Amino acid sequence: VRNLYLVRHGETTYNVEGRIGGDPELTAHGKEQADALARHFSRVEVTHIFTSTRRRSSMTAAPLKAARPDCRIMALPEFDEIDAGLCEGMRYEDIQSEMPEQYAARMRDKYNYVYPQGEGYVTLRERVERGLKRALFIAGDAPGVLLIGHQAINRMILSHFLYRRTEDVPHIYIPQNQFYHIVATQRKKLFELVPFM
Ligand code: G3H
Repeated sequence: VRNLYLVRHGETTYNVEGRIGGDPELTAHGKEQADALARHFSRVEVTHIFTSTRRRSSMTAAPLKAARPDCRIMALPEFDEIDAGLCEGMRYEDIQSEMPEQYAARMRDKYNYVYPQGEGYVTLRERVERGLKRALFIAGDAPGVLLIGHQAINRMILSHFLYRRTEDVPHIYIPQNQFYHIVATQRKKLFELVPFM
């Protein structure tokens, strides 16, 4: 794979309400972001698109899929967002008031914190690395691969290439209107944050 483009799904109803996890759909604004993404990538040499199995990820891919029937699209569960366990669907302020000890523990050490009955960044690493390996194997020597992921997933993938300190990982900036362009070969490494709308 020569070029890896890493983008987060468009805005969802949960993003607007400040809720975490779940399987929400895109808002009207999120659909506009997906349309803009399709406009941008209809001019880029991309042969493979990987999504998670969540609706927000596949809905973000949908306009591009329509514009580029030549692209191979695959949904990999390894790229599903971090599982917030008992906190799925909650707002951060609900967690703070209803489960203050959990909220405080995550604030203290966000990377190593694991949601009750769910995952943490620390446990996510293995699954994301597995997904990345799988995607890169499937894509082989493809000129361009687009991965439409989630906030925590994309942080993990950036950390794979950027070797970020683990305590920085849960805070990496993952916008919904810009994508990361990653070129990582043995000889050169390029990371660029590119706006598409
Ligand atoms: O729904 C989960 C979030 O996208 C992950 O963000 O780790 O900053 O809470 P966070």
